Amino acid sequence: TLNAVEMEERVRKIKEKMGEKLFIPGHHYQKDEVIQFADATGDSLQLAQVAAKNKQAEYIVFCGVHFMAETADILTGNHQKVILPDMRAGCSMADMADMAQVERAWPILQELFGDTILPLTYVNSTAAIKAFVGRNGGATVTSSNAEKMVAWALGQKERIFFLPDQHLGRNTAYKLGIALNEMAVWNPLTDSLEYEGDIKRIKVILWKGHCSVHENFQVKHIDYIRKTKPDMNIIVHPECSWEVVQKSDYAGSTKYIIEMIEKAPSGSKWAIGTEMNLVNRLIQQHPDKEIISLNPYMCPCLTMNRIDLPHLLWALESLEQGNIINPITVPVSIAEDAVQALKRMLALA
Ligand code: 13P
Ligand code: SF4
Repeated sequence: TLNAVEMEERVRKIKEKMGEKLFIPGHHYQKDEVIQFADATGDSLQLAQVAAKNKQAEYIVFCGVHFMAETADILTGNHQKVILPDMRAGCSMADMADMAQVERAWPILQELFGDTILPLTYVNSTAAIKAFVGRNGGATVTSSNAEKMVAWALGQKERIFFLPDQHLGRNTAYKLGIALNEMAVWNPLTDSLEYEGDIKRIKVILWKGHCSVHENFQVKHIDYIRKTKPDMNIIVHPECSWEVVQKSDYAGSTKYIIEMIEKAPSGSKWAIGTEMNLVNRLIQQHPDKEIISLNPYMCPCLTMNRIDLPHLLWALESLEQGNIINPITVPVSIAEDAVQALKRMLALA
């Protein structure tokens, strides 16, 4: 077995040898040992955009989670193979909406509201959900463009059906001026709408899903910081709950969080509510600023962390030997509809 330095050396050699044939996108939540080899880093929108633009690479070794690799496969051409170094790199939020549940929900919602609903899905969803949305005239959204996309959708139809993250949906709609009592929650476990009052008032139907990492940033953490460090800025990802976002100073995508920390003055203090690898990287890159995690126990995304140096090396060594391990191939019938949802977003974003 190789040690870390030897593994890094091997990865570097294979990258050099494969040149332009190989492209490695890396999400901001990836480990340092992986991100150092990324040809492009970004939030999920930026990674979708680089995947769409990349025409020359034969192999895209995706360092991120399964839904991101599926998106890359949908947006790239047939000659390009997308590889996920560890198939266990899923996303707990994407897993909270499956097609069987959506197929039960949609007819019930149509019976209640007729043809007045446009579905939208956060990119953190399976290709099948994106295809459902695409077939029904809707679009995908990311945390960077959710406001623009929700505003667009509400210009098309009276109400939206937002999958699978209730928090991003609620935070975004609220920012656009929609009141909490104009939002209902669809519970996929009971196949029912959670709402009190006249359903005609509903403008936003939120799928009852969430991120198991961001739910660990809570109001009690904010209260503690306000009490002990009143001059600290609090910045969170919009996958945090509405209460947490309301009590924070700033909320936005991983790209937004990075930009805010980069332009913050020396000596400023920040508590960040997002995944641990990104928070740790920002701490290392900005020794002149005081940066901590909003939750003192830090919050790793265990599935993002499945992609590590040994798995990256394994994927690359297999390619070198002519084997494609863990190819991500979205069936054409799903990809055809899913691409409509992604294209509507990319055209507006
Ligand atoms: P971003 O779009 O902000 O990169 O977020 C993706 C994600 O999975 C956050 O949990
Ligand atoms: Fe999914 Fe949450 Fe991990 Fe992002 S942080 S990939 S939403 S589980």
